[in-house]
Amino acid sequence: MAQDVARGERLFETCRSCHSLDSGKAGMAGPHLAGLNGRTVGSAAGFDYSPALKAAGAQGVRWDAERLAAYLADPEAMFRGSWMSAPGLGDPADRAALAAFLMQPR
Ligand code: HEC
Repeated sequence: MAQDVARGERLFETCRSCHSLDSGKAGMAGPHLAGLNGRTVGSAAGFDYSPALKAAGAQGVRWDAERLAAYLADPEAMFRGSWMSAPGLGDPADRAALAAFLMQPR
């Protein structure tokens, strides 16, 4: 688990161009990812989400490690019409590590 978190932190370097871990930082291409554990999909304040993510959030869908790992495998498959143009991660171990890192409280 601790190893996963460290590995996830390294992998997150590829996400940082679009995502901050600081809830106070706006104006990036993607929403901030602070406090993602249990957070409603599409709910970061100040970010204008695609209709696909807004609809999922309106249905009460929330982030947990399992959902995040599945999302990272193929973002477009989970939310048809999502605006996240990052490719899916092919390695299940990478996805689990990133999910473990992003579920840390912050
Ligand atoms: C090219 C920019 C870009 C990159 C790189 C990127 N994302 Fe995203 N991400 C976005 C955008 C834009 C959205 C909002 C999608 C929408 O509204 O449909 C998003 C949405 C998300 C969400 C949903 C957040 C929420 O509030 O519901 C998560 C989780 C996420 N990205 C994780 C990641 C991870 C982890 C990586 C690295 C593997 C990554 N993203 C790489 C642009 C990016």
